[in-house]
Amino acid sequence: MYRLLLFFVLLAQDLRLLNGSPSPCGTTCHGPQLSDIDTFIKSLSGTTLKPQDPDFNNATLMQNRRVTKYPGLIVFVNDVQDVQKSVRFAKQHNLLVAIQSTGHSYIGRSTVSGGLLINLSMMRGIKVNLNSTRCASGEISVESGNTWGLVYQEVDKYQRVIVGGSDPSVGMGGYSQGGGHSPLSTSLGLAVDHLLEVTLVTADGKMVTTSAKGTKIYEESGAVTETTNSDLFWALRGGGGGTWGVVVTFTFKLHPAPSGFLQAYAIYPMFVKKTAPGVKVLKTVYQLLKSMSPGWGGYMLFNDAPLDATMTNFGTVTISLVHYGAYTPQLEDEAKMLLEKIGMPPFASGLVNRTNFWDYEKNVKPDTGGYRIYLFNSLLQDDTDYDGMVDTLVTQLVTPPYGSEMFCTDTILGGAMRSQPKDATSINPGFRSASHSLSCALVWGDTKLDDAASKAGLKNGDQLKGFGGGIYFNEPTEDVTDWKAEFWGDNYNRLLSIKQKWDPDNLFTCEKCVGSDIHTKQYCPFCTNQKQNMIG
Ligand SMILES: Cc1cc2nc3c(=O)[nH]c(=O)nc-3n(C[C@H](O)[C@H](O)[C@H](O)COP(=O)(O)OP(=O)(O)OC[C@H]3O[C@@H](n4cnc5c(N)ncnc54)[C@H](O)[C@@H]3O)c2cc1C
Ligand SMILES: *[C@@H]1O[C@H](CO)[C@@H](O)[C@H](O)[C@H]1NC(C)=O
Ligand SMILES: *[C@@H]1O[C@H](CO)[C@@H](O)[C@H](O)[C@H]1NC(C)=O
Ligand SMILES: *[C@@H]1O[C@H](CO)[C@@H](O)[C@H](O)[C@H]1NC(C)=O
Ligand SMILES: *[C@@H]1O[C@H](CO)[C@@H](O)[C@H](O)[C@H]1NC(C)=O
Repeated sequence: MYRLLLFFVLLAQDLRLLNGSPSPCGTTCHGPQLSDIDTFIKSLSGTTLKPQDPDFNNATLMQNRRVTKYPGLIVFVNDVQDVQKSVRFAKQHNLLVAIQSTGHSYIGRSTVSGGLLINLSMMRGIKVNLNSTRCASGEISVESGNTWGLVYQEVDKYQRVIVGGSDPSVGMGGYSQGGGHSPLSTSLGLAVDHLLEVTLVTADGKMVTTSAKGTKIYEESGAVTETTNSDLFWALRGGGGGTWGVVVTFTFKLHPAPSGFLQAYAIYPMFVKKTAPGVKVLKTVYQLLKSMSPGWGGYMLFNDAPLDATMTNFGTVTISLVHYGAYTPQLEDEAKMLLEKIGMPPFASGLVNRTNFWDYEKNVKPDTGGYRIYLFNSLLQDDTDYDGMVDTLVTQLVTPPYGSEMFCTDTILGGAMRSQPKDATSINPGFRSASHSLSCALVWGDTKLDDAASKAGLKNGDQLKGFGGGIYFNEPTEDVTDWKAEFWGDNYNRLLSIKQKWDPDNLFTCEKCVGSDIHTKQYCPFCTNQKQNMIG
């Protein structure tokens, strides 16, 4: 019996090799020698961490602890030359690579077991240009290691706003390449709609600048090859992070700061004893939003977190709507009507005249992570059966696996998002037509729950998926089977052909990213100083 088992294990390993999946050290993978590693480290202006370094473990931690892994070497790149050296080193030694800005990826796309982790957090250059030839209200160039919190503060100094993430800790890198929704999206569109230019290091180690006008390749000789082809730029506007190269700088359009920023909020109980008043709140808001001014954006948050020690009151429903621009009596009437239609007393509610976007955003507390989370998402459409969906979700809310909690975050979409040029970006057409991006998650802290919570999350995710049209690439689960269609719809095939042109050997790959199921070449972990994958 034991022998038979061993045989199957060996067979399975052989199959892994045939598929071109990463193979273990020592068989066909040799990886760099210690001396190669030292020469590489000495060539960098940035720093590195090896598994034996005391700070290493902390530097591997992902926002979602469930997907934390141990790389073989972490490089904190300082400039574009460091990025080029890292890419060439990985290519030369057939190393597995991951690119990371903040480690917020829910499914571990920005980390790698045994491979080279390129951490961009040290690259935080920011340059505002108000005298832009491309955008009357100015443009901003940001290096990928910035966070939205830093960028919002910077543009506020110039009385400008930019479309970025709601949580100030989210980064430029993955957010901007996957779509990027914002409390401003209903007024201004998605982050990808604002991209003017991207500078990246591609799989051959060259620096490339790409925009709607064309692409410039900076050759090693110093020569510059220029073409009018902008396929790569299109792919970067929605095709997802970790796939096209290491983005060093993003240039975005700026907008004038609005004359004000109105916020309307109300907090209700989700469950009280055996009743669920939150159901009526959610159903009412989903219906009423359809007839309110399209500029209302913001969030609905609902969960089953226990509210009191007697465990009879569970969870809250928080409605937090924002409107770009100053107070008007009509907007106030709309907000009041919403509360009236809900028809029950909230725990708290209010209308707040924020002076501008930063005045709103500075109050958003960054999520510091550290938990385990299984997320699932659906891009809800105009014809979604909202009542049916709320009923389904509430059933799930009352039965999460013991020891976990369920949290849902609904981002209101639509409005100006729909009027942006569609062919300019590669996001899923189902994202463009969506009226909400609903992400729910099971959240827990205890290792032992991993299997039960993931299984329950998968079941819930499959049900939720049926109510929408597509899944947001940046808020994914790793278990989606038809991921190409769910993340990109009709755009997948063109994205794949661009991937094959710029990175034919799939040096840059991540979980359910364009081309990630094709293994043309075998990549290896470092054979020196390996640690086991992290569980704790
Ligand atoms: C607390 C929290 C709040 C969020 N809020 C929002 C929100 O308001 N709106 C929204 O749309 N999404 C939101 N998200 C989802 C977010 O868009 C994704 O998690 C996104 O992947 C984060 O990008 P990052 O660069 O910060 O993370 P990372 O984990 O560092 O990177 C994510 C992916 O991008 C790749 N990548 C990162 N940097 C680069 C680079 N420079 N070049 C090439 N590839 C790169 C990585 O390889 C990985 O594949 C949120 C997520 C969290 C955890
Ligand atoms: C790692 O981070 C934790 C929590 O922030 C901190 O207490 C600990 O000192 C850090 N360890 C090292 C070696 O820096
Ligand atoms: C990347 O580097 C920064 C700065 O050291 C660090 O804060 C961050 O945690 C690193 N990324 C991860 C996922 O550890
Ligand atoms: C703005 O740009 C134009 C050329 O595009 C230049 O002539 C002018 O001097 C610039 N103005 C400032 C204030 O930089
Ligand atoms: C918001 O501003 C308007 C117009 O200035 C004012 O009428 C209204 O009372 C203000 N509301 C709050 C809650 O401050």
